[in-house]
Amino acid sequence: MIEIKSLTKTFGSVEAVKNISITVPKGEIFGLLGENGAGKTTTLRMLATMLKPTSGTATLNGYDIQKEPDRVRGELGILFGGESGLYNRLTVAENISYFGELNNMDKKSIQNRIKYLAEVFEMGDYINRHAGKLSKGMRQKAAFARAIVHDPNILLLDEPSAGLDVSAMIVIQDFIKMQHQLGKTIIFSSHSMVEVDKLCNRIAVIHKGSLIDTDTVENLKTKNKSDNLEEIFIRLVGEKQ
Ligand SMILES: Nc1ncnc2c1ncn2[C@@H]1O[C@H](COP(=O)(O)OP(=O)(O)O)[C@@H](O)[C@H]1O
Ligand SMILES: [Mg+2]
Repeated sequence: MIEIKSLTKTFGSVEAVKNISITVPKGEIFGLLGENGAGKTTTLRMLATMLKPTSGTATLNGYDIQKEPDRVRGELGILFGGESGLYNRLTVAENISYFGELNNMDKKSIQNRIKYLAEVFEMGDYINRHAGKLSKGMRQKAAFARAIVHDPNILLLDEPSAGLDVSAMIVIQDFIKMQHQLGKTIIFSSHSMVEVDKLCNRIAVIHKGSLIDTDTVENLKTKNKSDNLEEIFIRLVGEKQ
């Protein structure tokens, strides 16, 4: 379970995240929906303990991001779209293995996990190639595999399918669904209504750092008397200009 409590981040005069409170129950896929600059990445970076909140806090599986960052990190798999963080001179398998070692996994479990991940992410052809030589889609899948080598309970995914071709996007989305079936708690951000509609139990619409609404996709559609999430989004955001 993730509890975000009055989370706020300012950068100088920019209020990137304003007093956001959200609860994500265990086992839910939760979507953070917002345009560029809405505050999605900043929110996720605070949850991932990569960035200190200006005020407010959050707990992940009971651990406080401010007081117990190490514990929080142990619960987490993190994927930030813009920065794959792979070592170009290592192969995909070596990248994954290195991350497994950092998470105190033994060699045998790491090898088993790499075999499994290579299969589900369809990386068989390039698992032993250098990360620097891969296409964007391949790198994204490799980065995802690396992020979850230790089978974390919570996944924080920042625009995991942005910029990918359709087949890579479907592999990633199917994997997110599979992780959901395994009972993982997942927050992912997206600016794609279609994606959010397809994957999420509940979403939060954020705009200019503020939480506009949070509800199930079904309830949002009923409340706004529309089946079209894109239309609903424009309406909600428009009211707050
Ligand atoms: N390190 C930073 N320094 C200054 N401003 C930042 C920094 N990171 C983000 N911002 C600003 O905070 C706002 C929210 O950014 P971000 O969280 O990246 O939005 P999103 O991920 O939804 O596109 C934007 O106005 C952005 O310019
Ligand atoms: Mg972002």
